[in-house]
Amino acid sequence: MVKHFLSLASFTQHELSGLIEKAQSFSHQLQKPEKIPSLLQHKIIANVFYEPSTRTRCSFEVAAKRLGAEVINFVPENSSVKKGETVYDTLKTLESLGVESIVFRHSDDHLLDELKSAFHVPFINAGAGKLEHPTQGLLDLLTLYQEFEKLQGLKVAICGDIKHSRVAGSLMVAAKIFGIKIFLCGPESLKPSSQDPLIESADFDSILGEVDAVMMLRIQLERHESLELDAKSYHHQFGMNQRRQKLMQPHAIIMHPGPFNRGIEISDDMVEHPQSRIFKQMHNGVAARMAILDWAINRKDL
Ligand code: CP
Repeated sequence: MVKHFLSLASFTQHELSGLIEKAQSFSHQLQKPEKIPSLLQHKIIANVFYEPSTRTRCSFEVAAKRLGAEVINFVPENSSVKKGETVYDTLKTLESLGVESIVFRHSDDHLLDELKSAFHVPFINAGAGKLEHPTQGLLDLLTLYQEFEKLQGLKVAICGDIKHSRVAGSLMVAAKIFGIKIFLCGPESLKPSSQDPLIESADFDSILGEVDAVMMLRIQLERHESLELDAKSYHHQFGMNQRRQKLMQPHAIIMHPGPFNRGIEISDDMVEHPQSRIFKQMHNGVAARMAILDWAINRKDL
């Protein structure tokens, strides 16, 4: 059976814990990259990104190369997409060329779900519209697990443009699987509704003293038809800054999937604050994606 990695919802807690453990093991091995076994030698991975990316695309490339694979970086703007080729035909072409996995990002929430049954090559969802970003979800879980040595019972505030955030989407899926309590903060118009008792709306300043982690999100201007953003006012109401950091518990951490807009959702001095794990998240992206590539291509059981 083809092992697509499309949503965290398709995994049990046991399976996701297995992926986190595998990622943790790769994270240790990355300290001596020359000793990492070439588990993907002679394999070719295609990075197919119809939306911009720095972290996800580059960390998949690093992850694949650390495991001995080769990588094709397909750039739609410089391809036969410009001559009218459809997404389906582009992916079929790459499958026909014999790549072993396709890492795919697109603005459409459901495209991979619609296409997957026509393919034998494993797809990895590198960001689907505003719905899910499951590889980011795994690296966020890995970061939380490294920090707290558990996931169940943690309390996490998410603040920002939650409605348009696939990062928040995957974190909320993971929260239900692991029993993480989520507090949705930020502008009311950018909060999704939730019937789940684990996911509730909260006032940002009031909840900061209770949570173990705060996930800051940027306003995704590219997904808004029209939004006038007053950066100064937004930062005052919802930004992470020194005043809010002082409201947090000393053990609590600041997270952000990146890219971040300094001075809007996070002040300059918070990005590399001792309580920030933002660059740790990016670092963990490599180990998490090594675990996912190994699982999808080598068909490892969890
Ligand atoms: N976090 C994240 O998905 O970043 P990129 O858009 O740069 O890949």
